[in-house]
Amino acid sequence: MRIAYLNPAGKMGGAETSLRELLACIRAAEPEWDLWLVLGEDGPLADIARALGVRVIVAPFPPSLARLGDGGGSLAATGWSVLKAAPATMSYIRSLAATLKEIGPDLIHTNGFKMHVLGACAGPRDVPLMWHIHDYVSMRSLMSRLLRRLRKRCAVAVVNSKSVARDLESICPGLRIVPIYNAIDLRRFAPTGEQLDLDKASGLAPAAAGTIRAGLVATFARWKGHKVFLEALSQLPAETPIRGYIVGGPIYQTSGSQWSWPDLRDEADRLGLASKVGFTGFVEDTAAAMRALDIVVHASTQPEPFGMVIIEAMACAKPVIASKAGGAVELFEEERTALAHVPGDAASLASQMARLALDASLRTGLGEAARVAVTRSFDGHRLASELTSLYREYHGAGREQADLVPSLNS
Ligand code: GLC
Repeated sequence: MRIAYLNPAGKMGGAETSLRELLACIRAAEPEWDLWLVLGEDGPLADIARALGVRVIVAPFPPSLARLGDGGGSLAATGWSVLKAAPATMSYIRSLAATLKEIGPDLIHTNGFKMHVLGACAGPRDVPLMWHIHDYVSMRSLMSRLLRRLRKRCAVAVVNSKSVARDLESICPGLRIVPIYNAIDLRRFAPTGEQLDLDKASGLAPAAAGTIRAGLVATFARWKGHKVFLEALSQLPAETPIRGYIVGGPIYQTSGSQWSWPDLRDEADRLGLASKVGFTGFVEDTAAAMRALDIVVHASTQPEPFGMVIIEAMACAKPVIASKAGGAVELFEEERTALAHVPGDAASLASQMARLALDASLRTGLGEAARVAVTRSFDGHRLASELTSLYREYHGAGREQADLVPSLNS
């Protein structure tokens, strides 16, 4: 079986972390399969995939296409950017089509909105296309229209949670949708191992002995709730022995949808948190950062489609406080394997942080139960078996069905 994976970004966001684990477990389960990855941007994912024995082609997006996003901005502004990007995108589609022809895959697996569209336009008609959808399509006006229009080109959509499945159903009626939860590397995200010196990484003096470290581990996408986390820290009683950490940095190329450093530092200053919160910057080894934390906070203000960070922290046996909405709630059992708070509600987050900061046995109990639960439900064997059986189902199916697939323009 030869599979071509298409991914827009080379930097490691959630969908890329998910793809890394997916490639690793497919490689382990099917060492003979020929795996290719086409990236729309160079970055760490290229080397990570090569090290897994995946053949990587970096085919950078033209700048106008790379910048295109429908996270923020008016419909008119988005429309204008689309128009500006159109000529370069058309020529990118032609060269992607040539690349795919050369690879000659049995299946195309796309892993990001732009690649769902580009793959549908550039993929040979007789090769089944699998969309792997990680986010709520209905929240993106441009993508909703495009995916609805292109849905007949897609043989099956894999989604990361039941919640994302329901959302996609509403946009793409008739499309076969299969929820398959992400997996993580349970050896990497383990309770023991290296720990990052969070104070040093943040340029802060070492915290006093007995300080509880609570961290938000996330990209700088605005909806990840950095401001709610800062606000919650500022609401804790002054005597709570806690220090907050913001672990991560801005990684996206699309404008308008992520915080900048000054945005968050100014907010921390405004709340009088200067010595109470550290900014580590981008961290390569997030497992080492999580192990150094006593509490891992997930604070997304919008429903989180899945939430890799939640299961990663649980796998490190850390107590997690998760934002209770979207697919994230499918990952834990409230009060047994994680705590929850109301999305966007700093007071509700602060009260859970205070609870955990003052109760060591609650922290340990949640962490231990979390590790057991994640080991049971999110390991690579489960993912490999679900996905390889889906691949097998479609292997060769495209050729038989090619004549039945209506053309893109119909
Ligand atoms: C996207 C989603 C996130 C999920 C990740 C992996 O980044 O926003 O919730 O964890 O994909 O599926």
